[in-house]
Amino acid sequence: GFVAKVMTRGATLVQLHTPDKDGKSGDVILGFDSVAGYESEDNQYFGCTTGRVCNRIAKGKFTLDGKEYTLAVNNEPNHLHGGVERSLDKVVWKAKSYKNDKGSGVRLTYTSPDGDEGYPGNLSVTVSYFVPKDATRLGIHYKATTDKSTPVNLTNHAYFNLSGPGSDTVLNHVLRINADKYTPVDDTLIPTGKIESVEGTDLDFRKPVRIGKRIEKFTDTAALGYDHNYVLNAAPKGKDYRFAAMLFDKKSGRRLRITTTEPGIQFYSGNFLKGQKGKGDKPFPHRSAVCLETQHFPDSVNQENFPSTILKPGDTYKSSTILGFSLDEKK
Ligand code: GAL
Repeated sequence: GFVAKVMTRGATLVQLHTPDKDGKSGDVILGFDSVAGYESEDNQYFGCTTGRVCNRIAKGKFTLDGKEYTLAVNNEPNHLHGGVERSLDKVVWKAKSYKNDKGSGVRLTYTSPDGDEGYPGNLSVTVSYFVPKDATRLGIHYKATTDKSTPVNLTNHAYFNLSGPGSDTVLNHVLRINADKYTPVDDTLIPTGKIESVEGTDLDFRKPVRIGKRIEKFTDTAALGYDHNYVLNAAPKGKDYRFAAMLFDKKSGRRLRITTTEPGIQFYSGNFLKGQKGKGDKPFPHRSAVCLETQHFPDSVNQENFPSTILKPGDTYKSSTILGFSLDEKK
């Protein structure tokens, strides 16, 4: 009952089916039934591979090795999710399915030419989606190499509604985020550079909290709700993966557990969803899905005290995230 479907446009995860508490398998991510939907203005990065640099870069500018680079300002006054026409979510990747004794997957590759969307270097990217045998788990593994120093920050932009796309809001989903700290932002959603504690704030998700419980506190902000980067607590000693977040939906009984090699996660509560119609002709209203985007922190290329996103020639960018599904044990 566990199925992941991927398309070559944007190396996009288009469907993700997993069983609910009654044993019925169903899709848990937003998207469209046709490529035309993904090409339309209604597509808000549903399920795509986001890059070359996901999230925001202040004013679409950065300086690297003494040279200033200018990127598209597509989210006034900032650059968002890699640009406009040739960002990784909009181009067509090559795909090859594979099988080994551990499971099966799809490997997608794309080479973004030097100067594409203003970024330096020929960047070769691989994204593998992998489903192990007999497991309700999807691994997303990224690799990239370049011939000029360049910023890279890749994530998957799936919108989850564990009751299924086109269901009610996610305000009754319960969320836990394994982060003691977050990166506060200005009113254009660019980090101030500070790293602050979630303690005593409405951003504290260290214990499971219903998303709707405190969201109204953020309604009158630029983000219109939750749209924050959390600084994930470190992985256990000697381990590559850290526990990032847990999302639980009582209605379906589905639980999603995310582990990652990344230092941060953007928790976005679907505040800009506008009721557009998607899969099965169902509308996707405001806050009817949640994105949990594992990544390096926003605007890292301009923030000296954040972990670096610069990939150098000869090095390999590597990043992995596991989406593990289970059912509520407590029932
Ligand atoms: C998210 C981002 C939001 C919004 C959304 C796309 O990753 O945090 O601010 O831009 O993508 O609509």
